[in-house]
Parts: sequence; structure tokens; C-alpha cells
Amino acid sequence: MFKSFQRQIVLWFLSLSLLVYLTCSCVGALFIYTNKTHSMDEELRIVASQIGHAIDVSGKNPTFRDWLRVVETEPARSIITMQLFDLNGHLLEHYGPDGIPRLIKQLNEVTENGQQMRVRQGQLLHDNKPVGYLQLQLPTKTRTEAITEFILTMAAMSPFVILGFAQIGKTVSNIAVKPIEQLVATLQRFVADAGHELNTPASIIQARAQSLERKLNKQGNLFEEDLQIISSSAERMGYIVKDLMLLAELDSKTKQTTESITEIKSVVESLTAEFSERFEAKDVLLKTELLEVARIKTNEETLRGILSNLLENALKYTHPGGIVAVGCVNNAISGEVRLIVKDTGIGIPPECLPHIFERFYRVDKSRDRSSGGSGLGLSIVKALVETLSGKVLVDSSPGKGSQFTVILPALKN
Ligand SMILES: Nc1ncnc2c1ncn2[C@@H]1O[C@H](COP(=O)(O)OP(=O)(O)OP(=O)(O)O)[C@@H](O)[C@H]1O
Ligand SMILES: [Mg+2]
Repeated sequence: MFKSFQRQIVLWFLSLSLLVYLTCSCVGALFIYTNKTHSMDEELRIVASQIGHAIDVSGKNPTFRDWLRVVETEPARSIITMQLFDLNGHLLEHYGPDGIPRLIKQLNEVTENGQQMRVRQGQLLHDNKPVGYLQLQLPTKTRTEAITEFILTMAAMSPFVILGFAQIGKTVSNIAVKPIEQLVATLQRFVADAGHELNTPASIIQARAQSLERKLNKQGNLFEEDLQIISSSAERMGYIVKDLMLLAELDSKTKQTTESITEIKSVVESLTAEFSERFEAKDVLLKTELLEVARIKTNEETLRGILSNLLENALKYTHPGGIVAVGCVNNAISGEVRLIVKDTGIGIPPECLPHIFERFYRVDKSRDRSSGGSGLGLSIVKALVETLSGKVLVDSSPGKGSQFTVILPALKN
């Protein structure tokens, strides 16, 4: 129970952490993009302001005064394309790499012929009259490289980050689960101890009530009914206490069992023989259907616990004249054995089906109390089946009957 709870906490923690990691990576990439774009714009702005003295605007068209001065102005920025255009947008001169040879007025960034350029362009004036345009282009390659490098680094780090987060998640879940585990262990101990303590007085009351009943019977008993009630109540109390103690043991996995190999068919036959008298007394036909030989890894006591609870229910919830059939199917291919208890009893309403394995749950509380059911039988069946790594399925329709199927891993014959 706690292991799967812990696993869930770790998974949640891991998913959340990865989401945060992914978000941080995206924010980081966006930050690099904005930062680099800003510095590229800044660089273009500085170059544009510095290059002014190298442009001669006195003629009809603007022209670089001489290459040497342009080179002197910007010797280190040889990756910037510098272009001069006339007023009609015809390229007059350019310095640096080829770039995109046209005047780009509207956009800051252009992709053409496989190259992406950050662009800055401004009008050149002479005596306040426009004479042409200066356009600067800077490749965005460095920005793309920086972002790619960042993403690759984050991706390369991700396995370590996942492992790290998983480890932290495990530690956190251990810390989170510890107090709950302690609390549940205390509760389980309490139920086991309380059960142990109640067991003795319940047995004493029962024994004394029975002995009193016998003694008074001899003298003509006026209190027979009262005594029977005391006796049966004590008996029922004893059953509840034993069931609770068994559940507490199964919960805390402290139940000592000697693992052995059990043959299902013989257990079914011996249990049905034990139950036959009670079934006859109620006029319910108990029969065995297909009974295949199957061996499972468990002790006989566990298997008897499962089957006897299912038979008890079938007997209790089937009217006289009804039929209860027990079967065992060994599926060699799937490696599963199916133990089936099927009755033609009162059935279970669909809305109650999800609850019948809960402790103390009874469909019809008033009726079951009078017939002695405390609602623990099926929770014991489920807990026992789970110790064998199996599962219980139920199929039922009110008024028609129920079928309980216990699926257990079978041993090869
Ligand atoms: N074969 C069945 N047919 C109809 N209803 C059933 C059947 N088996 C179980 N139920 C319903 O499921 C409820 C839970 O069953 P469970 O065996 O846990 O408790 P119980 O039989 O009432 O009491 P206990 O087994 O502790 O004496 C029952 O009260 C009953 O309403
Ligand atoms: Mg029962």
C-alpha cells in the first residue's frame, strides 16, 4: 500500500520537476534570444552612428568616402554588411559580406537565400534633403548558435537532472510517508492488541453462557432465549475479533505462513464435504462443476480461508431451493487458475458492487445483522488473495445470483 503511494509521490514530483525544468529551459532560451537580439541591435546602432563620417552625401548619390576609411572605422566588425542605396532603392555600394542586396524598409529581421539577417536602415540627408539610405545587416548566426548550445546543454544535463529529481522525490516521499506509516502501524497494532484482549473475555462469556444454559436446561429453563442470545452474541463477537485480528495481521504482513504447494481440487472437495450438511439443512444444493487439477503456491489454510468465506456467503445469501456451484479451471496457457463460486441467490445491486470488499460493508445492514454477518468476510478474501498475488472478480445481478472468481497464479503440473 505504502510502496504504491510512495511511487505515486515520486512520479508526481518527477513530472512536476520536469515541467519546471522544461519551463526553465524555454525561459532560458527566450532570455538568450531577447538578450542576443538586443545586443545585435545595439551593435548595429553603434556602427550606424560611427560610420557617418565615412559617407559622402554631398554628391547626387551617397558614397563611401573611401574603402580605407570604412575599414578603419569598422575593422573588427567585418561580419556586418554595410550598403548604400539611392532614393529609388538601387544598391550603390556595399562593404563587408554580401548580405541581402535590397533595401529592407519594414522589417528588423529578414531570411533570404538561407541567410537570416538583423537589419538596421536609415535615411541619409544632405541639407535636410534625403539623398539615399544606409543599410546595415548582421547575421543572426551567433544568436542561433548560442540558443542551440544552451538547448543541447540542457538536454545533455536532463538524464542527470531526472535522476537527481527522482532521488529527491524518493527522499521526500520517504519523509512524507513515514508518519503515516507509523500511524497505520500503530492502528494495526491497536486492532491486533484490542482483538487479542477482547478474544479472551468473549470466549469466557460464550463458554459460561453455554454451561449455564446446560445447567438450567436440566432444571427446566425459563431464561433459555436470553441465554441463547448471550451465547450467540458472544460467539459472533468472537468471530469479529478473530476476523479483525486476521486482517490486522494481513495488513501488517506479519502473518506467519508456511509456504507449500497446495492442490486446489482436494481442498475444494474436502471443504464442500464440510459444508454439505449446512447446505442440506437450508435446502440449498451445493455441487461441484468442472474441477480441474491445479496446484498453487500457498498453504492450505489460506486457500480454505478464501473458499470458506465465499461458501459462507453463497449459503447465507441464497434462498432455499437455490443452487451453489463450485468450479476450478486451470488455464495452462495463461498460467492462471480460476476458482469459481456461483450461486442463484439474491444478487448484489450494481451500485453496491464497488464497496463489497470494504471492511464492515453490508448491502442490507438490517438483514445481515440478524443473520450474523459483520461485513468482514470479503475483505478477508481480498486480503488473502492479494497475499497470493491474485485477484477477485465479482459478477452479480439482483434476483438472479452472483459469481465470485478468484484468479491465482498456477504452478505448472
Ligand atoms: N454471494 C452473495 N450474494 C449476495 N450478496 C453477497 C454475496 N456475497 C457477499 N454479498 C454482499 O456483500 C456484503 C459483504 O460480504 P462479506 O462477506 O464481506 O460480509 P458478510 O457476509 O455480511 O459478513 P461476514 O462475512 O463478515 O460474516 C454482504 O453483506 C452481502 O450484502
Ligand atoms: Mg460473508
